[in-house]
Amino acid sequence: MKALVLAGGTGSRLRPITHTSAKQLVPVANKPVLFYGIESLVAADITDIGIVTGDTSAEIEAAVGDGSAFGARVTYLAQERPLGLAHAVHIARDWLGDEDFVMYLGDNFVVGGIKELVDTFRAERPDAGILLTKVADPSAFGVAELDAGGRVVNLEEKPAAPRSDLALVGVYLFSPAVHEAVAAIGPSARGELEITDAIQWLVEHGRHVQPTVISGYWKDTGNVTDMLEVNRSVLEQVEPARLGAVDDASELIGRVRIEPGASVVRSRIVGPAVIGPDTTVIDSYVGPSTSVDGDCVITSSELEFSIVLGGSRIEHAGRIEGSLIGRGVHVTGAQRAPRAHRLVLGDHSRVQITT
Ligand code: TTP
Repeated sequence: MKALVLAGGTGSRLRPITHTSAKQLVPVANKPVLFYGIESLVAADITDIGIVTGDTSAEIEAAVGDGSAFGARVTYLAQERPLGLAHAVHIARDWLGDEDFVMYLGDNFVVGGIKELVDTFRAERPDAGILLTKVADPSAFGVAELDAGGRVVNLEEKPAAPRSDLALVGVYLFSPAVHEAVAAIGPSARGELEITDAIQWLVEHGRHVQPTVISGYWKDTGNVTDMLEVNRSVLEQVEPARLGAVDDASELIGRVRIEPGASVVRSRIVGPAVIGPDTTVIDSYVGPSTSVDGDCVITSSELEFSIVLGGSRIEHAGRIEGSLIGRGVHVTGAQRAPRAHRLVLGDHSRVQITT
């Protein structure tokens, strides 16, 4: 069995981060979200992994390499444009051959892994297996309708009037039957080859599509709110450690991980939180559910429920909450009058100022 990991796409909901980098590499507890997915595939004994990449292929390849660090063998499959999840299957057709495969969306996060699901698929070999979970806002997802007997009767992508509250989780199991479906469908109204249409085709052609409703934790990290939420949940499991320097005037409370080379001076860190390698925190407060990646400087500021990527400086910035801060960002407090906000923001940045 192979795995097809989708790490291309547009990432419009995570702009401006995705103007310069891949959303699948945004760190959760200081580890790229994509790595959790690869690890769960390897844990399910799937080591032959194809990664579909788009504009950010160089960055993805630099991060994942040949896969040996994960105990996997990775092949890169370039998708010229993000023309849909089924299009990704289409371009991977030759590499997939006639093997069963797991399709894993590279920005999705499934707690508890997928081993059990993969084992069941291997044993029962339906034509396709889909994972479903109840969500509050189904119209933002692919939605499945099941009949009284639990069989899939209808699938729709982001329906205006959802027929159920069961959303498709970003992990799919396919037999080679899917290729016939992908070849048969055409682009949707938004111009993409939709995997929901391919699965609907299988249903309509009498193929066995096995649904599994999961109650465990799943998130699509495609937007900032969900990204912060996944980070919060993963930090709750982080292994506390004090591998960097913490002075006597500082206080670490709860589940806190200080990475090697980091230094904490006259600061209070309340977990769950991680302070990345070679990051300095001075005269600051870092509160729960916060990850600060490597080579950052946090001075005289307060930070809570946030993710800060590598190489950023936050100085005299007051209190920052619920924020996703990219790489090499500089946030400073102005000490002089007039009291005004001075902003240099990339395209599609979002800033909420407290006045
Ligand atoms: P999405 O998050 O559904 O799409 P997107 O990346 O275009 O994001 P947005 O809606 O914010 O613009 O994609 C799910 C995953 O699949 C994600 O990791 C990107 C990847 N993907 C591809 O590799 N190729 C594609 O053609 C598409 C649409 C997505």
